[in-house]
Amino acid sequence: MDLDEILRNIPSFDDPNILIGSETKDDAGVYMISDEIALVLTVDLFPPIVDDPYVYGAISAANSMSDVWAMGGRPVTALSIVGFPEKDLPRWVLGEILKGAAEKCAEAGIGIIGGHTIRDNEPKFGLSVIGVINPRRIIANKGAKPGDTLILTKPIGTGIITTGLKLGFIKEETMRRAEKIMMSLNKTASELMIKYDPHSCTDITGFGLLGHLKEMMDASGTGSRIFFHRTPLIEGIMDFVKEDCFPGGAYNNLRYVNESVIWAKGIDKDKKLILCDPQTSGGLLIIMEKDKGIDFLDELKENGIQDAAIIGEVIDSAGKIIVEE
Ligand code: CO
Ligand code: CO
Ligand code: CO
Repeated sequence: MDLDEILRNIPSFDDPNILIGSETKDDAGVYMISDEIALVLTVDLFPPIVDDPYVYGAISAANSMSDVWAMGGRPVTALSIVGFPEKDLPRWVLGEILKGAAEKCAEAGIGIIGGHTIRDNEPKFGLSVIGVINPRRIIANKGAKPGDTLILTKPIGTGIITTGLKLGFIKEETMRRAEKIMMSLNKTASELMIKYDPHSCTDITGFGLLGHLKEMMDASGTGSRIFFHRTPLIEGIMDFVKEDCFPGGAYNNLRYVNESVIWAKGIDKDKKLILCDPQTSGGLLIIMEKDKGIDFLDELKENGIQDAAIIGEVIDSAGKIIVEE
């Protein structure tokens, strides 16, 4: 039984205040408190993907908060979830993980006000983040319209690079670059996009660029055309691609999207897997009216989000994704 099947069999709870539930595969649940305020609720955690515990904590915190920003919400506070092997690792490691997370949250303007720790064979860390949003301004997976433009705010390739680290293929400079990208907050991009009234947004994480794009297209009843050469990639990633450092998740994602995708001739297996590479703390994929997209891209760059790019457009062939060279 796959996960979708399992989730389908769980009885849903009827509550008119649930504005976004688990059915639409959105980034976070949204629960209405009043006409003006809804809560944005999300939780995420994962085992270490980098060697430095401080950086791991910071990346995990940035990743957890990202789901609130992807909905157009504002994080207000968080709780930590920790698994830690007390016998195998010194306590200071846990201290560094928590410090990295706390400083990342402080950068976002929020505090971690509690949490829970259990013994576990390998470390795990993440946050449950609580955000707020105006119930009329929720930016969900559905809402894309033909003619809209697709904007990606961070380069992709973190799954490939962290897999390289696991396999012992290490390029220090590229690793540091990937860490910096994973630690960078989607806060500014989210705050800027709200001004442009986007139709849809998600953050790129485990399903990769194409997996998340497919979810948005399926939810919206639209299709899309994207260009590989316009898609921002982390500099240095091709060294890892040549060494075949693809994570298992990239192959799974490719299987998941393959039926929906029409590949241009020049898109070889490596390029397909890059577009399906599962990201940690990836960028926002934002869909908005074409004219607004050009101004929005300028504003992102003015605010230091240099890698942001327009990677394609929404078309009306429902369920089809065309990948051009
Ligand atoms: Co998400
Ligand atoms: Co998530
Ligand atoms: Co969303």
